[in-house]
Amino acid sequence: MNSNETDPILSAAEVSPSLDAEALHAAMVERIKDRQRKLGAPLPPRVERALSAVPRHLFTPGAELEAAYADESVITKTDEGGVNLSAVSAPSTIAGMLAQLGVEPGHRVLEIGSGGYNAALLAELVGPEGEVTTMDIDAEVVDRARHCLDQAGYGRVRTVCGDGAFGVPDFAAYDRLIVTVGTEDIPAAWVDQLAPTGRMVVPLRTRALMRSWALDRDGDRLISRSHMMCGFVPMQGAGRHQRNRIDLQGGAVTLWVDEGPDIDAAAMEKALSSPRAQAWSGVTRKRGEPFSDQDLWLAITLEGGCVLTATQDAVEQDVVAPSWRLGTPALVDGANLVYRAKLRPLGEAGDTFEFGAFAHGPDAQRLADQLTERFRVWDTHVRSRLQPQMVVYPVGTDAVDLLDGYLVDKLHTRIVLSWHAPTS
Ligand SMILES: C[S@@+](CC[C@H](N)C(=O)[O-])C[C@H]1O[C@@H](n2cnc3c(N)ncnc32)[C@H](O)[C@@H]1O
Repeated sequence: MNSNETDPILSAAEVSPSLDAEALHAAMVERIKDRQRKLGAPLPPRVERALSAVPRHLFTPGAELEAAYADESVITKTDEGGVNLSAVSAPSTIAGMLAQLGVEPGHRVLEIGSGGYNAALLAELVGPEGEVTTMDIDAEVVDRARHCLDQAGYGRVRTVCGDGAFGVPDFAAYDRLIVTVGTEDIPAAWVDQLAPTGRMVVPLRTRALMRSWALDRDGDRLISRSHMMCGFVPMQGAGRHQRNRIDLQGGAVTLWVDEGPDIDAAAMEKALSSPRAQAWSGVTRKRGEPFSDQDLWLAITLEGGCVLTATQDAVEQDVVAPSWRLGTPALVDGANLVYRAKLRPLGEAGDTFEFGAFAHGPDAQRLADQLTERFRVWDTHVRSRLQPQMVVYPVGTDAVDLLDGYLVDKLHTRIVLSWHAPTS
């Protein structure tokens, strides 16, 4: 019998590190450095050294070496329906989050959501004086991480099985807490277990948009230091959240409306089958220029903001033509739907694209005009000028004690978002 049938975990020796692995590993680190540079957030040298020190293929046994060093997550577990439950996260996401986390030698760190790889990087960053605990809700994942960590020489990383919504109080307080699973909220346990000057990095979904937020503790509230685009499998257990979605056209188009407006699905179906109105803003972007902050600004500041996704078929059949079929800012206003249109190319060079809006419903043209006006406001007042700041308060905080901004109420927290000129 093939030994893999009884033990799906290969030992490090069986993976046979090779020159190929070294070259792929070095190329991965270079790609990540390059990416961070282009994002305007150069990789801290300590994070680079950690990335260079930990061979990722020891944490992706069974995967091809190319896959281990590609900038992709390596899925390690799916449910019966094929939904991803666990993965070793994409290295660029991990690197970006570690840059946000700012781990120092000697720190005590908790990681929620285990894969082994990130815990090994954290062990490099805290050094021999520090402490790393990684925890997962799934015993199989914990066993797998334990095995890989031991094989790779990171026996001193502590592994714990439990529901991350409650943290790991036994080893608190933590100087740094990193959550590597998508969450809708910040449970009180995470704040309670963070040292008074501690920082957490959390892939938090707000108004249907996930961003990795670095949040510093300030008494019983948290104040953001940075944010980054990211994607993670959703949290299970007590923090599991039934996402609010409206499927249209038999699931070809979906509106995601977490903390968003009440949507009349029948009215949206009707709207989608009505002619498309359009408007163009004159606001452009160059190829490769990031604009994910526009999404966040729209989602938070637009009354009725939500996110539209569509199947490939729906796009090919032109049911909708969004700027990105996997997540485009949209707005529902009564029986009308408007979303950011597929950017249209301008000029001969083909490297400049214009923001526009497509709308459906009885008042479609007004809505399309309104959204394009928002693009102009963003371009003049927000783009490259203002940065979002998130302040997280415990639920029950009195409204008079909240800073000014856009309020998003969650189960455990009251979150205020506002936009400011960067201070440094
Ligand atoms: C993307 S993986 C973590 C990747 C990992 N940090 C790495 O090194 O690449 C997300 C993990 O979160 C775990 N998870 C989901 N809900 C959880 C919960 N409530 N508490 C702890 N872990 C949870 C899943 O079992 C999954 O293994």
